[in-house]
Amino acid sequence: MTRQPALSILVVALLYGCAPEQESSSNFVAVGDMRELMAHIVDPAAGVYWDAVGTIVDAEGVHEMYPTTDEEWEAVSNAAFMIAESGNLMMMEGRARDQGAWMTMSRQLIEVSQRALEAADARNLDAVFDMGAEVYYVCTNCHAAYAIETLRPTDSRTN
Ligand code: HEC
Repeated sequence: MTRQPALSILVVALLYGCAPEQESSSNFVAVGDMRELMAHIVDPAAGVYWDAVGTIVDAEGVHEMYPTTDEEWEAVSNAAFMIAESGNLMMMEGRARDQGAWMTMSRQLIEVSQRALEAADARNLDAVFDMGAEVYYVCTNCHAAYAIETLRPTDSRTN
């Protein structure tokens, strides 16, 4: 009976034991931790995307916001691209909090951001607005599980 736990430990060691060695030979150099990745890449990019299309109501009335120039549209596409690739950065060794839900949500971020990118490339105002909400949902979903103190990142539409 005493052998059984030892065997399980051996199996676990065989399954996962090699990982640190492989990781140490990785060429990746993390420039920042999760908080910095969020603060310097993900959040600014999401801000650009969310602010691109919408309606502002103030004392002077209702103002529709949307990109009008090639440069403005490119900035929206760039933002979606940055969020999408950030999903990969979140899955890096040292950043990933686990191999389960964390990975699923990081991949979800990539998937919705790719659709957000398509919407921007197509210059489809309704689709950009809708995909902004989809991206927001993935942000808050992960924060609810792993960063409850930042549940709601800044979204000018909900402020
Ligand atoms: C896979 C999980 C995950 C996803 C998806 C995710 N975040 Fe985060 N986010 C975190 C975690 C974890 C932290 C807390 C990091 C820490 O403080 O160590 C965080 C922190 C933040 C912070 C606070 C940074 C600071 O300076 O304290 C902001 C802002 C933020 N995220 C924005 C976003 C936005 C915007 C999105 C979506 C576009 C997003 N996050 C998607 C996990 C995620």
